[in-house]
Amino acid sequence: MFAEQAPSAPSAETRPPGEAGPGNELLVVDGVTKLFGPLRALDEVSLRVNSGEVLGLVGPNGSGKTTVINVISGLLEPTSGEVRLNGQRVSGLAPHRLARKGINRTFQIPKPFPELTVSENLKVAVHASRLADAEILELVGLGGGAERLASELTASDQKRLDLARALVTGPRLLLVDELGAGLSKSELDELAVILRRLVAELGITLLVVEHLLGFLEQVTDKVTVLNAGAIIFSGVLSEALADPTVIKVFIGE
Ligand SMILES: Nc1ncnc2c1ncn2[C@@H]1O[C@H](COP(=O)(O)OP(=O)(O)OP(=O)(O)O)[C@@H](O)[C@H]1O
Ligand SMILES: [Mg+2]
Repeated sequence: MFAEQAPSAPSAETRPPGEAGPGNELLVVDGVTKLFGPLRALDEVSLRVNSGEVLGLVGPNGSGKTTVINVISGLLEPTSGEVRLNGQRVSGLAPHRLARKGINRTFQIPKPFPELTVSENLKVAVHASRLADAEILELVGLGGGAERLASELTASDQKRLDLARALVTGPRLLLVDELGAGLSKSELDELAVILRRLVAELGITLLVVEHLLGFLEQVTDKVTVLNAGAIIFSGVLSEALADPTVIKVFIGE
């Protein structure tokens, strides 16, 4: 993530193909429980994401989505259970070490350095992408905005900057936390195109936390649904929308 000295890890694009673990599994979250005092924020959560896939993670407010991302990206240690990348246990490692291993994330509320320009905000991140910063800014739709101050960006552009900041680290697994929240329909459509390009052109595997199912379905049809820290559905998005338990959780009774 931020301000670490230049890593030697190869980027997603330069790593040899077929490197993933059994069955092409890139990410395995295995029976992860996370307690905050008496609160069981995650209860035996298990999920798998194959290399090159996009998995959507949905659920009501407070169901544990961000906590899943925080555990995978190393911001939080699981109370029990483990996270594996390519079959190798990575839970417990610090975020900057996970970044070098190819895991990065965006934040639900981006926090760029406000007094730095867009370009300077990227420079402080560890770089391992084969793409130049300018190419990444172009890709996320901030081309031409490199010299703007981060404090002057709209909420939508701050999200693009946060995405760019994650991308310069050359992730093979990118965890995206509610990129769509607060954006207009056209901004959402643009972001969906960007996410699809990350997968198709850069070979990045995505875990996409999202409230907006219309946005999610532009990016994937595979979804896991969390409720109160536990997984209540894993499968195809259209089937999730017809699942009585999922409907009950989303609509309430
Ligand atoms: N660092 C923390 N300390 C204590 N409780 C926490 C912490 N982080 C999250 N929680 C609690 O854990 C539960 C899950 O929170 P989390 O942020 O993962 O939910 P979420 O699904 O991302 O919600 P939202 O849709 O509102 O972003 C909530 O009850 C939250 O209050
Ligand atoms: Mg959240």
